[in-house]
Amino acid sequence: MLTVENTTVRYQEHPAVFDPETYRTRIDEAAAFIKERLPEGFTPKAVITLGSGGLGEIGESIQKVATVPYGDIPGFFKPTVAGHAGNLIAGYIEGIPVIGYQGRHHYYEEGGQPNQVIALKNVVFPVYVARALGAELYIATNAAGGLNPAQKPGDLMAITSHIDIHFPNALLGPQVDFMDAPRFQPQHMQYNANLRALLHEAARNVGEETHLHDGVYAALTGPTFESVADSQMLRKTGADAVGMSTVPEIITASNIGMETLGVSLVSNVIAPDGTNATSHEEVTAALQDPATKKRATSIFREFFRLYAKR
Ligand code: HPA
Repeated sequence: MLTVENTTVRYQEHPAVFDPETYRTRIDEAAAFIKERLPEGFTPKAVITLGSGGLGEIGESIQKVATVPYGDIPGFFKPTVAGHAGNLIAGYIEGIPVIGYQGRHHYYEEGGQPNQVIALKNVVFPVYVARALGAELYIATNAAGGLNPAQKPGDLMAITSHIDIHFPNALLGPQVDFMDAPRFQPQHMQYNANLRALLHEAARNVGEETHLHDGVYAALTGPTFESVADSQMLRKTGADAVGMSTVPEIITASNIGMETLGVSLVSNVIAPDGTNATSHEEVTAALQDPATKKRATSIFREFFRLYAKR
């Protein structure tokens, strides 16, 4: 049987053509599997996907009631990228029941999957599962390269909109019959302005407002970093940061009726002429900086405290 090492999914069990009914069944199976491992009556209000390295730390502020390794959950993929723990954690932040995804499965990690519709649906699978468990708020965090010279490594950026350069659209192909999701998804309501305002209020309350920017996130598939000309083009087209994730998740989450918030942690700042190359080591080191971890964690804790009072 053809298997791919980092996944519990056996491609042989999944046809070459995307089948929305099978996918729907997989969502329900994964949600049921997770539910069995959660305390009776625990319904997540929010789900937060914790990207590279230090962002996973935010998960440490969750008062845990359950930890489920991705490798155990049917249909989930184990991350192959260093710094992505690969656990679902469930618990409470400031009294709000949340699910934290510690690490994500990126499009560039899709092992030998030639069908882009299936590949994207594998990337966004955890979003559907969180919604099936009851989550209403989707928060994506990621590490990104800063393109706006006002940013410094370790700063945060509340995403105001995105530019989707390379990803095939996450909603391509047959529709999944789930939550009455519309076929033609408006995209002006993503990155909810009220939630962004709450994030700024949180940053102010913990004395970190100067380190929280607003900006446009450009998504490329990676795994290469940008060329000099890529960076120049992205900046000219209005992007403030660039990364390799988040957009498919946000499109999907909004399509299935969730409020969405996206936050980038600027791990490196790209020069206006696009010439300073970055490396995974530079990105990882920036994310491990204790001051950066503390900043991200304190802003999010405060965000959930304010969210609970809404
Ligand atoms: N480019 C793309 N993705 C990234 C970067 C970058 O400079 N830094 C962290 N993730």
